[in-house]
Amino acid sequence: MIRRLALAAALIAAGSPAFAGGPGAGGALYDRYCANCHGFDGFPNLPGTPDFTRGESLAKTDPELIHAIRFGVLSMPGFDQTIDKEGLIDVVFYIRTLQR
Ligand code: HEC
Repeated sequence: MIRRLALAAALIAAGSPAFAGGPGAGGALYDRYCANCHGFDGFPNLPGTPDFTRGESLAKTDPELIHAIRFGVLSMPGFDQTIDKEGLIDVVFYIRTLQR
């Protein structure tokens, strides 16, 4: 939680557009590849999809989440061929800002 607050504060201080769901690196990737199922604001469109507005969906570590995004989980496709390593880090950074 403290980490998330620090993250949010850093994003606000930097005036990052990602925080506002704008064209920041992670936000742009998310809007393009993830929002169809996970929702633009992190509230899922597809049944059975984790709700990123709730912290417990993202209780795993960054490496665990990155692994899931790279290789997919059950009905979720993997993005290993689509998003590079830096992009995966950016997108995890971004989804952690969606919690309300
Ligand atoms: C086709 C729909 C779909 C798309 C597109 C999609 N997801 Fe998912 N995602 C899911 C579903 C469904 C689950 C739940 C899988 C399960 O555990 O049954 C999931 C799970 C997750 C999880 C939780 C994994 C875990 O181990 O708990 C993360 C993180 C995630 N998605 C991130 C992303 C990101 C980031 C993108 C875009 C790069 C993305 N997803 C694109 C449907 C999708």
